[in-house]
Amino acid sequence: MTKYVGILTAGGDTPGLNSAIRAIGKTALGMGMNVIGFRDGFHGLVGDRTMRLDGETLSGILTIGGTILGTSRDKPHKMLMGGQKLDMTDTMMETYRKHNLDVLVCLGGGGTLKNSYRLMQKGMNIINLPKTIDNDVAMTDVTFGFDTALGIATEAIDRLHSTAHSHHRIIVVETMGHNTGWLALGAGLAGGADVILIPEIPYNVEIVAEAIKRRYRHGRGFSIVAVSEGAMPQHIAAELQAAQAELEKAKNKEARQKAKTHIAEIEARRAHSTMYMSEQLEKLTGLESRVTILGHVQRGGTPSTVDRLLTTQLGCACVHYIKEGQYGVMVAVRGQGTTAVPIDQVVGKRKVVPLEHPWVQSARNLGTCLGDQ
Ligand code: F6P
Repeated sequence: MTKYVGILTAGGDTPGLNSAIRAIGKTALGMGMNVIGFRDGFHGLVGDRTMRLDGETLSGILTIGGTILGTSRDKPHKMLMGGQKLDMTDTMMETYRKHNLDVLVCLGGGGTLKNSYRLMQKGMNIINLPKTIDNDVAMTDVTFGFDTALGIATEAIDRLHSTAHSHHRIIVVETMGHNTGWLALGAGLAGGADVILIPEIPYNVEIVAEAIKRRYRHGRGFSIVAVSEGAMPQHIAAELQAAQAELEKAKNKEARQKAKTHIAEIEARRAHSTMYMSEQLEKLTGLESRVTILGHVQRGGTPSTVDRLLTTQLGCACVHYIKEGQYGVMVAVRGQGTTAVPIDQVVGKRKVVPLEHPWVQSARNLGTCLGDQ
């Protein structure tokens, strides 16, 4: 029986998405399956906006950044439709049935896993591939896109070194990473940053300033501070923890809303903490400080060799599971190979940097300041 396969890409775009689409498409077509793409994430399932994925469309996309399908952060159960947020999961089921799909392959990170799980509960067969530059998906060694972003952030730190050195300045470089520090830690370590600040290790700005002054006393008039966008000073981390505990304890809707508003207010302050920290470092060290926010540059452009290989391997493995009829799984990276992880086991989990991770240990061994001691 011919199998019908749908593909969509959801969440923030990532280098390697096209390479993954190509691998799934070419392998599936080679096995006589039918393949169709949905545009702009889950939104494409609502309006049945599709793209034919044939040999021609799949050709020449291996090295191209972004996603030929388009993406969005739309949630099936809360989709913005004409100014209102509506549950569109039933409409999506209709599209799925209309195309006679055997499976919908969703390329995405933690948010996509949650959305896939919702559709699975409605009766869809789903397979996920773990994508995000943040590397924060649980139960997979790594996510695709991370290696490319890591390379871009490392190169940026390399380039910032010479200008920091010439001007005897502090340069604070902010990476993406959402609430995890994989990008800042990896790029900071590979780029030889003097200070690395990640969400998993809340920092004390005076300890950071002291490390920079120590370098100065030893004749190093410049310092590079790699900071993850989710990093925060210790007092904000304590406030956030207390507010989250309030949310868990909240007994009624009103109390929950109050706790959520409080969390949003703390997170807004945290979002500005990089600029604020840079100003504080100027005051505490007497040195000039500049901030570079790498932002979406980390998500753009051609995928690295590692990400091309990874997405090709994941895409081929995905079609193997389709052939076997093994659905409701995320194709995870395990060592040199891949493995199928049930989506209901991985949904809602996040992979943070363990404090005993070898990269953390290496940074400490090198004397890199992590902001806590
Ligand atoms: O999840 C990927 C990511 O790039 C995060 O690192 C970042 O916090 C977020 O997406 C930015 O999202 P957007 O592109 O929607 O602003």
